[in-house]
Amino acid sequence: MSHLFSLSELKYENIGDVLRIEEASFENPWSKKSFLNEITQSISNNYIAKLNSIPINNIIAYISFRIVCSEMEILKIAVSKEYRRIGVATYMMDKCYEIALKKNAETAFLEVNKTNFKAINFYIKNGYERYGERAKYYKNEDALLLKKEL
Ligand SMILES: CC(C)(COP(=O)(O)OP(=O)(O)OC[C@H]1O[C@@H](n2cnc3c(N)ncnc32)[C@H](O)[C@@H]1OP(=O)(O)O)[C@@H](O)C(=O)NCCC(=O)NCCS
Repeated sequence: MSHLFSLSELKYENIGDVLRIEEASFENPWSKKSFLNEITQSISNNYIAKLNSIPINNIIAYISFRIVCSEMEILKIAVSKEYRRIGVATYMMDKCYEIALKKNAETAFLEVNKTNFKAINFYIKNGYERYGERAKYYKNEDALLLKKEL
């Protein structure tokens, strides 16, 4: 899959494209301010994925994660609706594990809404296991805490 996509750092000028995907993907999307805040944190890592076959406007997905000591915490991952199920989220995850391992991370954690079955399926396929539950993590909805050894 690596020839189809490329990964680069999320820059200020990409936030508009990322926000369009964010707003189409989540009921309670992050704001521009949230992304701005994230890209200025030293512990934060933010990447976009581009589809190589399209020359312009080719941002189709993004991921945000933090590394604290040996833990990688995945905060966000989303793919533009037209480009789902072609492997781009898996591609981003694999690239980001390489980055996290170089920064001495050993374990990845993430929270996912208990009713987000598509994402849960995606994480299970990518080797995550249930590690706990967080009540009312998303307003009135519970989250599963998932974990993967890198
Ligand atoms: C979850 C998400 C990131 C997956 O991205 P993607 O690029 O489509 O994922 P991939 O193509 O790499 O999928 C790999 C596997 O994930 C699972 N999966 C992905 N989408 C799925 C769906 N709609 N239904 C069931 N399983 C799904 C499948 O096991 C799939 O493998 P398969 O296609 O061989 O069956 C994407 O659906 C998305 O952006 N969702 C909205 C945002 C979101 O919920 N993010 C997670 C918040 S915690």
